[in-house]
Amino acid sequence: MAIRQDNFEFIRDRLYKFSAIILNDNKHYLVEARLSLLAKQNGMRNVDEFVDHLRLPAAAVLWNDVVDAMTTNETSFFRDITPFEVLRDNVFPALLDTGRGSGRINVWSAASASGQEAYSIAMMWQECRNRWPNGELEILATDISNSILARGRAGSYSELEVMRGLSQERLERNFQREGDRWRINEKMRRTVVFRYLNLIESWPTLPKMDIIFIRNVLVYFDLPTKQKLFAKLRRNLKPNGFLFLGGAESVLTIDDQFERVFPSGGNCYRLKK
Ligand SMILES: C[S@@+](CC[C@H](N)C(=O)[O-])C[C@H]1O[C@@H](n2cnc3c(N)ncnc32)[C@H](O)[C@@H]1O
Repeated sequence: MAIRQDNFEFIRDRLYKFSAIILNDNKHYLVEARLSLLAKQNGMRNVDEFVDHLRLPAAAVLWNDVVDAMTTNETSFFRDITPFEVLRDNVFPALLDTGRGSGRINVWSAASASGQEAYSIAMMWQECRNRWPNGELEILATDISNSILARGRAGSYSELEVMRGLSQERLERNFQREGDRWRINEKMRRTVVFRYLNLIESWPTLPKMDIIFIRNVLVYFDLPTKQKLFAKLRRNLKPNGFLFLGGAESVLTIDDQFERVFPSGGNCYRLKK
């Protein structure tokens, strides 16, 4: 059964206001599919009854669950691989003092989903950090979905998830088997702090970042949202910092103060001097 038009519009408009995620007008099936389990869990007969209920002020507490259900959390370890190689080969050497083997780097995985991106950065750092024995790296991973953040914090992944992007060697070096799942080791978990952050609201005070990964989330936003977001990213990135976007994303038309760096790829940008 297709969701009623007025209920579709209610979810579309509320989701946009809360997260800036755009639901195109033909996405009725998506809302129906994503909310049907939640409707059932809340004792409703169908999605329309659930959305009618969501209109009541007392149902405001359910909104987090709706956002969790409506966000697309698709991700994988070492997604597109090149950005992580660029980190190792270009970005860490540019930011750290190779002579003294020291330095400190703050990394932000914004829209981190279940943590595979943040943990891939942590694993890459472990693999090359003997070049900077006194170096330190801290990773902040943020997302708008509380349930996906809890999954990242737990660091526990299914067989299918670890098969996506992890070599056998990386799996064995960094994970322990727990039943039919794999848990990333404590050393990696300690490197990453997971926190709720809505990219379109005002942000809490964050450390100035050396590296920002904001990958595969811009696709959900319209141009004015992206422009406002980039103005904030600029303020939170150190002048010599690096910004990574998803493979299909670009700063073109959004912000003319960033320029692409590294011919080897990775979709990495720096602020123009
Ligand atoms: C497709 S995942 C990208 C994950 C990872 N960055 C990657 O490239 O593999 C997009 C993530 O953006 C998050 N997201 C969507 N809107 C957001 C917002 N307004 N603020 C923060 N996170 C948001 C979603 O919850 C989802 O986990």
